[in-house]
Amino acid sequence: MTDAAVPRHADSNVAATDASGHQRSARNTLDVERVRADFPILHQELYGKPLAYLDNAASSQKPRPVIAAMTEAMETYYANVHRGVHRLSQVSTDHYEGAREKVARFINAPRTDEVIFTRGATEAINLVASSYGRAFLKPGQEVLITALEHHSNIVPWQLLRDQLGITLRVAPVEEDGSVRPEAVIQLINENTGMVAISQVSNALGSVLPVRQIADAAHASGIPVLVDGCQAIPHQKVDVQALGADFYAFSGHKMYGPTGIGVLWGRHDLLTQMPPYQGGGEMITSVSFEESTFKGPPHGFEAGTPAIVEAIGLGAAADWLEAHDLEAVAAHEHRLLEYATERLSAIEGLRIWGRAENKAAIVSFTMDQAHAHDVGTIVDRAGVAIRAGHHCAQPLMERYGLSSTVRASFGIYNTEQEVDQLADALQVVKELFG
Ligand code: ALA
Repeated sequence: MTDAAVPRHADSNVAATDASGHQRSARNTLDVERVRADFPILHQELYGKPLAYLDNAASSQKPRPVIAAMTEAMETYYANVHRGVHRLSQVSTDHYEGAREKVARFINAPRTDEVIFTRGATEAINLVASSYGRAFLKPGQEVLITALEHHSNIVPWQLLRDQLGITLRVAPVEEDGSVRPEAVIQLINENTGMVAISQVSNALGSVLPVRQIADAAHASGIPVLVDGCQAIPHQKVDVQALGADFYAFSGHKMYGPTGIGVLWGRHDLLTQMPPYQGGGEMITSVSFEESTFKGPPHGFEAGTPAIVEAIGLGAAADWLEAHDLEAVAAHEHRLLEYATERLSAIEGLRIWGRAENKAAIVSFTMDQAHAHDVGTIVDRAGVAIRAGHHCAQPLMERYGLSSTVRASFGIYNTEQEVDQLADALQVVKELFG
């Protein structure tokens, strides 16, 4: 148990937000053509074929309002933030801090100063491991993760393990790719110092029972970090209803820019955490004898931040919020069902990850054809997908695989694009079958 972690999520009746699209009403509709009109990059051909961009779990494309907000910043008011008395610096600071407010609203953070801008989700998790971990975790304590975590929610804890002498406990994943809440909860014990889990698996799409796990962890005073990268572009995320104490995500998977991400953390935890990096902007005073530091968020944002990227992320949050996120989830779930049906019909193709509660990600292998060959061949048909271990090597090992092919869907994808993928896979089958 960790003294610093006194959960403030008392209401366990609040509905978890980690539901997949298939729990949504089929009546919700999304005007996909209108959505697509916002994305200049989608309207092009590759190798004489229309582009079907199905690599959204790796990174999503950017709508015009995000591009426009970033262009406007650089063309009209760009300057460094927080430091200048001059007009441009003030305007730039207003937009940068305005982006923080937009993000806070988007995730229903109780306080804007709980939103820390980072380089991405990876840095957000490293921040918690490094700052919270070194301050509050003791040798012999355990960090509990699951077997489907992305490397970014494994390696920071291993680095801490090697520095501090903590232990990494790993909850198992079922054959269908799901994580049973009991499988995690039964590993919580008096030595557990942190639970760190994904909301949605990047490799299989499985949705984790975060709220149930968080409630169990909180009953023992243990904080919960949630890697929300694969959830936040696809459904409404409410960090309070979810029961997270820390929530990490990247901008570039939610239709925003690269180089920017967010760590949201409970204010009472953040105020007890030591600085993560030292430098300009995070201090209140510096002398050669000692320095004193700001509280959150600026105490965790050393150096000149990614100003334009933060502004772009704020625009992405606004853009997503302008859509009915229930309708987005329902649309993506229909694509998942359709893709599962079309791909299952291809002889020799096996889908990995059949969890009942699943986001719009389809991971698969094909008899005789290596994942990279599949990726290369479908690329020639204009279809962009990812082939590899998806930064989840332990999960691949769980299934005896070295790699899979992964199609991951987003707000702008269509059934025609699923057909384009299925047709290209048919060609692979004929070539290798
Ligand atoms: N984490 C990203 C993926 O799953 C890069 O592809």
